[in-house]
Amino acid sequence: MTLLIDRYQRPIDYLRVSITDRCDLRCIYCTPLGGSPKLDHDDILSYEEFLHLIQVAVDMGITKVRLTGGEPLVRKGVTDFCSRLAALPGLQSLSLTTNGVMLEELAQDVYNAGIRRINISLDTLQPQKFLRITRRDEFQRVWRGIESAENVGFSPIKINVVVMRGINDDEILDLAKLTLDRSYHIRFIEFMGFNNDSEWVNQHYVSADHILNSLQTLAPLEQITAQHTNGPARHFRWPDAKGVVGIISPISHHFCPSCNRIRLTADGKLRNCLFSDQEVDIKSPLRQGATDADLSQILRASIDNKPEKHCMQSDVFRKCQNRPMVAIGG
Ligand code: GTP
Ligand code: 5AD
Ligand code: SF4
Repeated sequence: MTLLIDRYQRPIDYLRVSITDRCDLRCIYCTPLGGSPKLDHDDILSYEEFLHLIQVAVDMGITKVRLTGGEPLVRKGVTDFCSRLAALPGLQSLSLTTNGVMLEELAQDVYNAGIRRINISLDTLQPQKFLRITRRDEFQRVWRGIESAENVGFSPIKINVVVMRGINDDEILDLAKLTLDRSYHIRFIEFMGFNNDSEWVNQHYVSADHILNSLQTLAPLEQITAQHTNGPARHFRWPDAKGVVGIISPISHHFCPSCNRIRLTADGKLRNCLFSDQEVDIKSPLRQGATDADLSQILRASIDNKPEKHCMQSDVFRKCQNRPMVAIGG
């Protein structure tokens, strides 16, 4: 098996693929107020094109692919695409991050397509607050979606909670308590000020340490060793709890030294760091008939240029200039 190593000696084996910039929610930490300009249909890679590029990446040493969006489940034909992807030789793990709105309808098809690892975003257990955060009144549907995912056999169910001061930080314990009798992973994520203005960010950022302290008020948590997924979460558990609490701290303890990922956007740009505005166009060469060797060279160059770390800190937020989060997929 080929090993892709960048110039900081990080093995790169994980590709996040944003298959659409469309989303059926408008989360305040992800989508700019008033929406964001949408890609033209012709600019978005076809499923054939995604399959081709992913095969090239897998041949180079990528073993894990996660489908993201926008919201990946709003793209027509997504479950057939998943089946075809799951059959790619060399691809060891295929996963999906979703907002859960379409899961009630699609969980079974997604499972049948071969996806076993699914991450679902849910920032609150209160329908009114859900409306405030996502600007859509879909709490019940998402909740039923999570239950459908559990019923069809996804395991573990990972739930992503972006914590924001004054908005949902009062629910940290309520959300974490779901792990007491469900085998969910509830993952609290430090809010990254990506598209929001810095005053808003400073008001709403909550550090991982604060989140951990809030959790320990119920009972001491034991830290458990990282699973082999190599993800950014640190894991904890309350004694006898069925599930796991995760903390993802991109700002206060950034995980850049162990970053193993690159990204492909829906319009065919390689993005070698979530926070970097520098992207490499791989769609044009692909459409102009580049060979697989040419395409792998473009991928190699993007990996070679992967920055050592991002420059965001709790008091230094920099807006990403060229895309909102919704067009990157986290
Ligand atoms: P697992 O393998 O299941 O742990 O997946 P994951 O954590 O890679 O995926 P997910 O899509 O659930 O992302 C979780 C959170 O981590 C999201 O808030 C992402 O925005 C954030 N995240 C993912 N990748 C990166 C990254 O490269 N850099 C930073 N700073 N944050 C990231
Ligand atoms: N800060 C932290 N996490 C974010 N996500 C989206 N935008 C942000 C942000 N500004 C998370 C969502 C989703 C994942 C893909 O990225 O919660 O679960
Ligand atoms: Fe919310 Fe995810 Fe849609 Fe962004 S892409 S608006 S985080 S559901």
